[in-house]
Amino acid sequence: MCGIVGAVAKSDVLPMLLDGLKRLEYRGYDSAGVAVIDQNKKLSRIRSAGKIVELEKALSSSAAMRGTTGIAHTRWATHGPPTEINAHPHISGHNLALVCNGIIENHEALRKAQQANGIQFASDTDTEVIVNEIQQHIQNGLDLLAAVKATLAVLEGAYAIGVVSADEPNRLVGARRGSPLVVGIGDGESFIASDMSALISVTRDFFILENGDIVDINGGNISIIDQCGRPQYRDKKRSGLSADAVELGDHRHYMIKEIHEQSVAIATALEGRITATRLLEACFGIDSNEIFDKTKSVQIIACGTSYHAGMVARHWFEEYGVPCQAEIGSEFHSRSHVVPEDCLVVTLSQSGETIDTLAALAAAKQAGYAHCLTICNVPESSLVRESDLVLMTHAGAEIGVASTKAFTTQLTALRLLVIALGRRFSMTITDEARLIKELRELPSKVDQAMTLEPTIKEIAEQFADKQHALFLGRGAHYPIALEGALKLKEISYIHAEAYPAGELKHGPLALVDNEMPVISVAPNDRLLKKLKGNIEEVRARGGKLIVFADPSAEISAQENLQVINVAPVDSSIAPIIYTIPLQLLAYHVGLIKGTDVDKPRNLAKSVTVE
Ligand code: F6R
Repeated sequence: MCGIVGAVAKSDVLPMLLDGLKRLEYRGYDSAGVAVIDQNKKLSRIRSAGKIVELEKALSSSAAMRGTTGIAHTRWATHGPPTEINAHPHISGHNLALVCNGIIENHEALRKAQQANGIQFASDTDTEVIVNEIQQHIQNGLDLLAAVKATLAVLEGAYAIGVVSADEPNRLVGARRGSPLVVGIGDGESFIASDMSALISVTRDFFILENGDIVDINGGNISIIDQCGRPQYRDKKRSGLSADAVELGDHRHYMIKEIHEQSVAIATALEGRITATRLLEACFGIDSNEIFDKTKSVQIIACGTSYHAGMVARHWFEEYGVPCQAEIGSEFHSRSHVVPEDCLVVTLSQSGETIDTLAALAAAKQAGYAHCLTICNVPESSLVRESDLVLMTHAGAEIGVASTKAFTTQLTALRLLVIALGRRFSMTITDEARLIKELRELPSKVDQAMTLEPTIKEIAEQFADKQHALFLGRGAHYPIALEGALKLKEISYIHAEAYPAGELKHGPLALVDNEMPVISVAPNDRLLKKLKGNIEEVRARGGKLIVFADPSAEISAQENLQVINVAPVDSSIAPIIYTIPLQLLAYHVGLIKGTDVDKPRNLAKSVTVE
């Protein structure tokens, strides 16, 4: 988490740093800060608690910050509360400033050693030990780069840093161990940032640092080295992101923009990957045929919303005889494994940088899982680089912290993977043709589901004074209920739980009263009859139900039972379609509650700490 941006530029660097910070705000937004070195070799720093808008206020009420070298940071607190003193950049002496994204695991030992050397700490953060350590090496005669190298040798943890020194005013040193860092290549100027989107208004050309890389920027000169100083050559990458893609346009929030982008995103995820009746398996890469032929089972690993996509896919795989398990990354990487023979590990991630998913992939490789495939939205991400096979979701930049289009494009990509592997198990050519036909119609069906928005806006009013909500679903729609509950709690701060509808009677039914809305998804599938029984169980106990149902499900509105018809869809794509009204509900309840929809409290989009 946290976002870093830094630059050695040809003109005043502050506007560019602030623009970069705003584009990185999705990574954390509980405090922010900036440090700039001016032409008199003077380092100045401004920080503030709260979002970047608070930093802007602090900057406008301070003396102008001028200078062409600087670093900036937006924070998601790990060590120390989100206060101004804990905001980055952290400084040492009058000359050295540093920003960090990540966690220094041995910070306590380093802090004690530094305190024993008479160093006083100004913050509660783990980061401050890094800048102090670098300072000690500089005082012992090393230059900035050498001091950073010496410091990295004693740090334990996963992090990315950017550091500047007023004594070397045109220099910026960055380093990456576990957390992402890219280098932007300008015309006579150079930049670093946690991701490419932060720099998209100043450059399209990048070096993507590998783990262990150190970048030494002197104006427009960029050298990338390893810790021993050996040059490392990285290919130049051109970003396909456009500045517009990360602009809000006419939308009030990124979340609603991204909800509405879903039909186009899904169409893009399918583009060039299917014919009228067949999957074009080459989309999984040249080695896929051999790997898929060997695969006997699938282990899905993901976190949060991406995990819910994995839970849906488990149903889809097993329908065609492909054994499949889905597990949360943080659980997978912290347990022992009995490794099934020729099991394909499938990681799902919007960002490709979620540390729990990455750690789980590393654990799977170490345990001896055969091969790995990732379904991911960020092309240069760590997961993409560390996987044998890759299927990009092509959702486009997702800025809203609550994942929406990343989820539905993951499900779309998973449908393709189910076909690729299902073909090798019990899926027939006729099955495949039917599934492809449904996928081709998916974008227009998503648009159709979007027309429910005015009705959902009205329903959202009922949540204005609610403290709790319950979501129900069965089979592949239980994860959709989980996703609906997750969206509602993230965006509106209403406590929401999801249950498999059949599980209610084993306990949660005790919660039902006429105060708590119970939301159910009811597509017309083989589980409908049982679901209707569960809905009646809730109604009989005075529960207030809101049911999103297929018209042919024959669930009629009655007292305490509102029914919102969702146009009929094939069960193969129903989980994707039934997600749409639940996303819209969370968004409109969030609006009514007046929350910061795109940046819910305590969260960050890219979760790079364990
Ligand atoms: C919820 C949400 C999170 C992410 C989770 C994994 O709306 O966005 O639960 O799904 O942090 O992130 P990725 O998909 O980037 O690995």
